[in-house]
Amino acid sequence: KPSLLRKTGVYTLQAALAATFIGTGYVSYKLYRESNPAPQKPQAETFSNGSPRKTLVILGSGWGSISLLKNLDTTLYNVVIVSPRNYFLFTPLLPSTPVGTIELKSIVEPVRSIARRAPGEVTYYEAEAQDIDPVKKIVQIKSVSKDEGGLTKELKYDYLVVGVGAQPTTFGIPGVYENASFLKEIPDAQEIRVKVMNNIEKATTLSPEDPERMRLLNFVVVGGGPTGVEFAAELQDYIDQDLAKWMPEISKELKVTLVEALPNILNMFDKSLIEYAQDLFKKEKIDLKLNTMVKNVTGTTITAKTGDATEDIPYGVLVWATGNAPRDVTKGLMGKMEQQNSRRGLLINDKLELLGAEDSVWAIGDCTFYPGLFPTAQVAHQEGEYLARVLKKQYKIDQHNWTLVQNSNAAETAKVQSRIEKLNDQIQPFKYNHQGALAYIGSEKAIADVAIGESKYRLKGSWTFLFWKSAYLSMCLSFRNRILVALDWWKVSFFGRDSSV
Ligand code: FAD
Ligand code: NAI
Repeated sequence: KPSLLRKTGVYTLQAALAATFIGTGYVSYKLYRESNPAPQKPQAETFSNGSPRKTLVILGSGWGSISLLKNLDTTLYNVVIVSPRNYFLFTPLLPSTPVGTIELKSIVEPVRSIARRAPGEVTYYEAEAQDIDPVKKIVQIKSVSKDEGGLTKELKYDYLVVGVGAQPTTFGIPGVYENASFLKEIPDAQEIRVKVMNNIEKATTLSPEDPERMRLLNFVVVGGGPTGVEFAAELQDYIDQDLAKWMPEISKELKVTLVEALPNILNMFDKSLIEYAQDLFKKEKIDLKLNTMVKNVTGTTITAKTGDATEDIPYGVLVWATGNAPRDVTKGLMGKMEQQNSRRGLLINDKLELLGAEDSVWAIGDCTFYPGLFPTAQVAHQEGEYLARVLKKQYKIDQHNWTLVQNSNAAETAKVQSRIEKLNDQIQPFKYNHQGALAYIGSEKAIADVAIGESKYRLKGSWTFLFWKSAYLSMCLSFRNRILVALDWWKVSFFGRDSSV
């Protein structure tokens, strides 16, 4: 008779085999579904009842617009997406890319694939919206083809969603645009990588006493918000975990400086987490310059003010991460409408409708300004989901309106009108559900302000880093992204980061 121990062993092995089998089956099925989309319903001018299919133009392919597209029933509208970026970018992992912790291709998903997986056909233009006319309901777009120069086109819309995001702000500080790198898009990450690697190699040709060598090896990050902090942390990890092995001498000379105008970094986090992060930065030897405001930038030096003292800090690579400013197309739209009198972004109401064009334009994400809604992926994502629900109701309202136009029977008209009223009542204001904030702070540690219902939890350290990793894995847009990101982490833990450009 087999012993209990042996029986347990056999059962465990069987359970493990079954789990592997089911897991592999699930992953294969998900990947198959993602790469083999079902047929799509074609776009058409009218529906089967003869009512016109309205045109919905969505500007942007970021967190807000793609969340809308993924949740929208695209058979209800002629959906047109316009974005100069033909992919969705998973920004939370962008700070990991310049040093090679994560490969850039692992965090992007082509707009074409996302659009092709929608139930109804979607038109995509790789173009930039240049001008929006909310009265004539026309968007002027220009293609971003690099070789022929852009082609322009006018798009007429019934409904428009503006989700064009924001651009980095410099607060008009001289020399920033000319000399600094930003960290907002893929080309920014590529530029930073080239600068970092080139500077390290260039410095090796100079003698250790040469002040130019010291300058080249000083990497300065301006802005102690989450972008600046996460990038500084990744840079220091690269120096400590990889360069220390392959170029031990240079790694000792490399210095990361983080400059922040306020008395502390990571303002949106709880005080205890801020202190933890700042202490860790000190231990990691990141030079934290608090209460220090950058006033001027040249090709080799930043001039910063701390109280009354002014200091020149030589730098080799400068990364600028001081927050957001509206894009030109957003400013153009704001300039046309007297209701749009904020310089911080498009003003919307609690249903995300653009003030001044409430019947036809919604605005979501970083291009908007609404008290209590911060420029985060979390907000933009939830706004996109909300808008998909609103547009479904709007379709029903439009269908009832069509019936009203066709119908002359008074009793039927009253019935339809009451249905329209009901549907309008069902469109409730957008309610943001804040789930917390996460940030990577280096040395495989993270901090998290987690909100579950009314309860708040403050987490920090190595376990929180694992939580950070699993949270971001689960948030990745596609299953393919999830696998690629997990493989990148696995690769780095075995082989380290790659130093080639
Ligand atoms: P975006 O995602 O920026 O998308 C804007 C889209 O509009 C882009 O596709 C762009 O190409 C397109 N576009 C631009 N101009 C035009 C035009 N003229 N016409 C048409 N389309 C146009 N938030 C979090 O909540 N958690 C995080 O961990 C986090 N990490 C971040 C890390 C970094 C490095 C950065 C930069 C941001 C991070 N954020 C994070 C913030 C988050 O990325 C933004 O809040 C979010 O991207 C906003 O979504 P959006 O759709 O408004 O804009
Ligand atoms: P931010 O606006 O959050 O922080 C910018 C920082 O730069 C501020 O602390 C500001 O005091 C400082 N600053 C401004 N001018 C300065 C100057 N001249 N000299 C020195 N310091 C100066 O900007 P960030 O980090 O780019 O983030 C933008 C948005 O994206 C935020 O809403 C943020 O919450 C979100 N985000 C969230 C992340 C996360 O949740 N992990 C990661 C990255 C961004």
